[in-house]
Amino acid sequence: MKKFSIVIAGGGSTFTPGIVLMLLDNLERFPIRQIKFYDNLEERQQQIADACEIIIRERAPEINFVATTDPQTAFEDVDFLMAHIRVGLYAMREQDEKIPLKYGVVGQETCGPGGIAYGMRSIGGVLELVDYMEKYSPDAWMLNYSNPAAIVAEATRKLRPNSKIINICDMPVGIEERMAKSVGLNSRKEMVVRYYGLNHFGWWTDIRDLEGNDLMPKIKEHVNKYGYSLQDEIEESQHTDASWMHTFAKAKDVYAVDPETLPNTYLKYYLYPQDEVAHANPEYTRANEVMAGREKHVFGECNRIAEAGTAAGMTLEVDEHASYIVDLARAIAYNTHERMLLIVPNEGAIVNFDETAMVEVPCIVGANGPEPLTQGKIPQFQKGLMEQQVSVEKLVVQAWEEGSYQKLWQALTLSRIVPNARVARDILDDLLEANQEFWPTLK
Ligand code: NAD
Ligand code: G6P
Ligand code: MN
Repeated sequence: MKKFSIVIAGGGSTFTPGIVLMLLDNLERFPIRQIKFYDNLEERQQQIADACEIIIRERAPEINFVATTDPQTAFEDVDFLMAHIRVGLYAMREQDEKIPLKYGVVGQETCGPGGIAYGMRSIGGVLELVDYMEKYSPDAWMLNYSNPAAIVAEATRKLRPNSKIINICDMPVGIEERMAKSVGLNSRKEMVVRYYGLNHFGWWTDIRDLEGNDLMPKIKEHVNKYGYSLQDEIEESQHTDASWMHTFAKAKDVYAVDPETLPNTYLKYYLYPQDEVAHANPEYTRANEVMAGREKHVFGECNRIAEAGTAAGMTLEVDEHASYIVDLARAIAYNTHERMLLIVPNEGAIVNFDETAMVEVPCIVGANGPEPLTQGKIPQFQKGLMEQQVSVEKLVVQAWEEGSYQKLWQALTLSRIVPNARVARDILDDLLEANQEFWPTLK
């Protein structure tokens, strides 16, 4: 049986150890002969690599492990590139969150002005990975979950139209796990869903069990009372902080706006921005929480493992919910025709929506990549919201491409989260100042 070679970029991500442990747990379904780490920050990656090398040696010594900052070493002889880079690191996420808050506007990693600023940083970094992959392993596939996925996806569609890139997100997976638990199922894999939207901006329209029984009424009953909160909370490491618990509970209010569908959690930022600002602490945002929490824990544990020379007794956890990435790689490698939610060019999947938009819809995935399933026509409410949001995303990519200050200002102005063009300009000027090192020069 063929064994695969994987490169993970950035190797220095807080998610890398969880992904490696997940890959090691899934070797029977997805055999691996080589894991490479690539990052442009050697010192950060090395700490994760030193621990992962020990973990791999102890659990699967047959796997060849390489950590490098050299593109050729990283990208030659690979079948899959799993990409989760963060251009500008948490220091810049903190700016993305705090600058809008100074103006009373939502400060968030991927939504509104923060997401736009992050998009302007990410596009170049992600395109560089695509180009390395195509230069050194032209047959490989890039599975990208670097954020902001919506903007990154639009940039790859427009600027690398023929490249083998699939953009993915774990939020629908996480929400579906909660839905499944709320109706007494063991796993989201016992459900088949219809869904449409943009990344971090979508709705479920139909959810059935494997026999075809409609689960929507029961799930709606739960969401109407509790949002996506559960009585017995799910055991997973990332989405258990109080701020995430708040997000899951808030889905109740988001659901109330359109009880025909079930919403993605992130719609709270667009439908209730003032509520988010009201309980935000402008001095201590999610970036601070993550730096003090996940980052500290992961790097602390990795350094401890490296020093001890063994992974015995480690507290790093398998990122089991990231196994959808293995499902995706397997679908391509083994032509499994698995049904998965992916971010793909619309091209008619949502009938009454811009065919050039990057949308999130169920796809059948095989050796030739994803084939989107048509979701029919969408209602006026969602269509209106999506047209506005997709225009923001397209304007950001145009601004990046053309170096246009004007288009970026328009993008911020069009974002539902920003009250008017003047506030948009004030925020933009602060973001511009903070991002000089990362954004293209704007005229
Ligand atoms: P992190 O800062 O811990 O890790 C990112 C790594 O990328 C760092 O080691 C950094 O040095 C490296 N990097 C930055 N620019 C690079 C470049 N141009 N080339 C190579 N390496 C580069 O961040 P994190 O919190 O672990 O998150 C990583 C990414 O994964 C983020 O974009 C995050 O939003 C994303 N993410 C996405 C999903 C999803 O659902 N799509 C889920 C989880 C995380
Ligand atoms: C969800 C989203 C990701 C996002 C992450 C942020 O998983 O789907 O796109 O990056 O949340 O989580 P964090 O713990 O970094 O705030
Ligand atoms: Mn996501």
